[in-house]
Amino acid sequence: MTRLVLLLSGPNLNMLGTRQPEVYGTATLDDHVATARAAAAAHGLDLEHLQSNAEADLVGAIQRARGRCAAIVINPGAFTHYAWSIHDALAAFEGPVVELHLSNPNSREPWRHTSVVAPVASGSIVGFGGKGYALAMDAVAGLLG
Ligand code: DQA
Repeated sequence: MTRLVLLLSGPNLNMLGTRQPEVYGTATLDDHVATARAAAAAHGLDLEHLQSNAEADLVGAIQRARGRCAAIVINPGAFTHYAWSIHDALAAFEGPVVELHLSNPNSREPWRHTSVVAPVASGSIVGFGGKGYALAMDAVAGLLG
């Protein structure tokens, strides 16, 4: 069985490090991917990462993960709150899905309180900043057994 985990990063996450550091911290996306990769490796998991600002790219990556990846960890960025195409693609993925956010969207503006990803996720990790990337890999390892 494959032990490959797909980590997906949505729009504007490529700007982490300089994007609203008071909200998202000063670590870059590369830093977070390195954290995730190290945590995955500690569980014997391989990690593949894709960041895109385009919804279609993320939908395509989720479709291609079917039968190829064991699990998906996704920080969909603002797509979290309205991208039903990502919801549908994740619903068709057979493995565990972990929703991940650096901030806690539930304690921010009301429009961030809705997640269209949460209903098709095994669980959500929110509000723990960069530590969430390691927590997400721990969660995936637990779900995969
Ligand atoms: C985010 C939260 C979203 O509401 C926001 O649009 C982002 C980042 C987070 O990681 O905290 O782009 O997903």
